[in-house]
Amino acid sequence: MERSFVMLKPDAVVRRLMGEILGRLEAKGLKIIGMKMLQVTTDLAKQHYAEHVKKPFYPLLEEFITSGPVVALAVEGPGAVAVIRAMLGSTNGREAPLGTIRGDLGMSRQMNLVHGSDSTEAAARELAIYFQPSELLTYATPLDGWLYASDEK
Ligand code: RTP
Ligand code: MG
Repeated sequence: MERSFVMLKPDAVVRRLMGEILGRLEAKGLKIIGMKMLQVTTDLAKQHYAEHVKKPFYPLLEEFITSGPVVALAVEGPGAVAVIRAMLGSTNGREAPLGTIRGDLGMSRQMNLVHGSDSTEAAARELAIYFQPSELLTYATPLDGWLYASDEK
């Protein structure tokens, strides 16, 4: 079963959109197996966004992502990484298609509400940054058989 790392960014928390976004992930059939609210430090931001640290937009990104609490999520489901990226829509909320989280809820390129891992390798790296293995919880959900067939897992 595939896992992805998702973060509800400070704008999602401040705008009280946590429930809306969590609701969309749950309604899609994805399983939340880890969740914590935390404040991202500048060191943590550099670790998380290591690929962007040298880019011109990084200082503003760091200022934003450390500006208030975030919610870190470990999310599980078949093809979870690609499914979640599709649910987010493109980076800029003004360009993201309607029906996506960013397209429906935001207007900004920077304040785009949610982060989602862009590959399974990135997911493994990011989950390890934010969660101890013991913080990822495996539990049975009796409705799984109604979400997808046994040969789709
Ligand atoms: P994320 O990593 O947060 O899921 O977003 P993403 O893959 O859609 O976009 P990415 O290229 O990885 O950029 C990471 C975050 O940096 C901010 N950003 N600002 N000013 C700019 O040109 C710019 N480009 C990106 C956004 O907050 C973006 O989500
Ligand atoms: Mg990215």
